[in-house]
Amino acid sequence: MQSRVALVTGGTGGIGTAIIRRLAQHGHRVATNYRDEEKGRAWQQKMKAEGIDVTLARGDVSSAEDGEAMVREVERQLGPVEILVNNAGITRDTTFHKMKAQQWDDVIRTNLGSVFNVTRPVIEGMRERKWGRIIQISSINGQKGQYGQANYAAAKAGMHGFTISLAQENAKFGITVNTVSPGYIGTDMVMAVPEEVRNKIVAQIPTGRLGTPDEIAYAVNFFIPDEASWITGANLSANGGQYMGW
Ligand code: CAA
Ligand code: NAP
Repeated sequence: MQSRVALVTGGTGGIGTAIIRRLAQHGHRVATNYRDEEKGRAWQQKMKAEGIDVTLARGDVSSAEDGEAMVREVERQLGPVEILVNNAGITRDTTFHKMKAQQWDDVIRTNLGSVFNVTRPVIEGMRERKWGRIIQISSINGQKGQYGQANYAAAKAGMHGFTISLAQENAKFGITVNTVSPGYIGTDMVMAVPEEVRNKIVAQIPTGRLGTPDEIAYAVNFFIPDEASWITGANLSANGGQYMGW
């Protein structure tokens, strides 16, 4: 398989780290963003100790200006971005009748605004070069909704709306655009859910456990090889059977 340049946003987080690791193991040159330099560099050192070189670019994905700057910095260090994984995301869980405008805005701007902010600077180059892979990390809760997540579910459902439009516009340019919708994975994001609530959620998962970040990285990598070039506009669920919509 040809070595490509891959930008994974939110690579320092639980799922992002597993995606970076898997793409690097497949020979791709990998990059991610950081917001806090000290945290970013410490994470980069940890990856280096595993034998994985990760290029870092500063940037907040909720800003269009940062998205552009981040992509240009990765291009400067590694060359054109050929694989983009829109993975960075946050939660601000609360029932809607208590939700503040800030909690709505933060989630929409970070989880959905980011797909514009980071994809827009890479799309023209991918079209010119006639090859690209764009993968959105959405969520089971964008597919089924979730109590306490009107902001998050709206953003995550929106990500797949973006996928299926971009997939149509770019199919003739050798670019596939797909979504991975993870179920509950044992990262900091899920561990922040109160234990009692979390236990009730796990009880609804047919496999009887949380997923692992690597199980999501496997699903992401599925879309990358040339053999996957007929697969575009898909939404791949990886959720232990918790939601089986079709
Ligand atoms: N269905 C029905 N009722 C529910 C419910 C559910 N799923 N969850 C909570 N309730 C009920 C409670 O039983 C309680 O009822 P009573 O008042 O009758 O006792 C009531 O809702 C509590 O409502 P409040 O408005 O007072 O809510 P709260 O402030 O206690 O907290 C919450 C509510 C923040 C939503 C909390 O339940 C929670 O954190 N839930 C988990 C949300 C979740 O799944 N987040 C996922 C985070 S990880 C992630 O997002 C990754 C991913 O993509 C999968
Ligand atoms: P995580 O461990 O909390 O990691 C989130 C990552 O996103 C971190 O690297 C974080 O960087 C980055 N990030 C957040 N806001 C950012 C911003 N404004 N600009 C740039 N980077 C930002 O979360 P995770 O569990 O790995 O989740 C990764 C993605 O998967 C998210 O989109 C999430 O919604 C989705 N997802 C997760 C689950 C799950 O169960 N965990 C399930 C379905 C979908 P900082 O260190 O700078 O904060």
